[in-house]
Amino acid sequence: MEETRIDLRQNEMPRAWYNIQADLPKPLPPPLNPATGKPIGPEALSPIFPMGLIEQEASQERWINIPEEILSIYGLWRPTPLCRAKRLEEALKTPARIYYKNESVSPAGSHKPNTAIPQAYYNKKEGVKRLTTETGAGQWGSALSFGCNLFGMECQVYMVKVSYQQKPYRRMLMETWGGKVIPSPSSQTDAGRAILAQDPNSPGSLGIAISEAVEDAAKREDTKYSLGSVLNHVLLHQTVVGLETKAQLQKIGVQPDILIGCVGGGSNFAGFCFPFFPEKKAGKPIRFLAVEPTACPTLTKGPYCYDFGDTAQMTPLLMMHTLGHNFIPPGIHAGGLRYHGAAPLLCLLVKEGLIEAVAVPQNPVFEAAMLFARTEGTIPAPETAHAIRIAIDEAIKCRESKEEKVIVFNFSGHGHFDLASYDAFLSKKLEDYEYPEEKIKESLKDLPLLAAR
Ligand SMILES: Cc1ncc(COP(=O)(O)O)c(C=O)c1O
Repeated sequence: MEETRIDLRQNEMPRAWYNIQADLPKPLPPPLNPATGKPIGPEALSPIFPMGLIEQEASQERWINIPEEILSIYGLWRPTPLCRAKRLEEALKTPARIYYKNESVSPAGSHKPNTAIPQAYYNKKEGVKRLTTETGAGQWGSALSFGCNLFGMECQVYMVKVSYQQKPYRRMLMETWGGKVIPSPSSQTDAGRAILAQDPNSPGSLGIAISEAVEDAAKREDTKYSLGSVLNHVLLHQTVVGLETKAQLQKIGVQPDILIGCVGGGSNFAGFCFPFFPEKKAGKPIRFLAVEPTACPTLTKGPYCYDFGDTAQMTPLLMMHTLGHNFIPPGIHAGGLRYHGAAPLLCLLVKEGLIEAVAVPQNPVFEAAMLFARTEGTIPAPETAHAIRIAIDEAIKCRESKEEKVIVFNFSGHGHFDLASYDAFLSKKLEDYEYPEEKIKESLKDLPLLAAR
């Protein structure tokens, strides 16, 4: 039998996270205070984040040690396997070799616990009793509920309403780990009430849910806020994924040609790809492909400029590709990819031409998910299926050009709680939302400091 799974032993797990801030081609534009337009200092973030995470946010150190307590929890499911998708290759009749890093084996079913655990850990260390957060598909909310539970903390999750309705099992998963879940927009916060007053049927968005969670945390002494993507420290924690992948490829003496990941806020993509940047910088011809939905084409259509991270304008201004903080994407099934902005670190590298971005509509994404499920077995999350679509497209190009490229993608999560979306696809009810040009134009009118473009 040919081996298709490359495993690491637990004692081969990375002992430090990789911080790309030490290797950027230019400095990252700092977050700005929206009132003054001046860079914010750590004190501005301290009402909502613990100092341990604020330090990581700004750190320029290349390596940041992973505390023992976090490593021991990572050991519940890490290292995760790197798998060769042999049967998918055969179905595609491609000479390309396709590998995927399987992050779906975590307790919550995705890459999200890689940062939920350290975030709960650093908050607990500073005496925080309760964390608030937003969730789209429910993946992040379940990961944080899991993390908070392990550290004996409360977890309040604002879940985007359209996902709350589409994915009741994710809510149950969060509640099983002790999380409290409320559909957003809710009537519990000023931000939620303001949206409901304008549109009582609002499907919600990550931007709105973030506003609610931040407001809740800012109003309570015992509470801080936790973000599942976008910020530097979140991307940092996710680099365990890419560091393990690198070690696994080295074990079998394979060099990747193309690395692929889907992008919502950018954390799984960055965690998977960033550890390969030093090699790219040293001249290796690796391509990085970031995949997003056409319904929410942040990297491919959004201008690169300062914008708020949330709808109610409570966050600092971040320099990023953005569709405008008021943009509410159509209710596609990849709920975790419905975010108007993306990680500033990722956006800088897209802007510099080091990362390529592509957008795909949801029907071809589900066709790719079906082919993957029917050849490799595991049912992908709709978010993950965006990466699979492009991995398949690249493998088909290799068939045509007869090139034996090595394609590696991040399998960011399974779709066991997304079966309603598979049902919609199988019964031909899935709508493809092309680029919602008018809605985006409208929302870009509200950008602050647009002159910075
Ligand atoms: C399985 C899965 N993949 C990808 C994402 C997108 O998030 P990010 O871009 O931060 O990795 C999500 C977000 O919820 C997710 O649940």
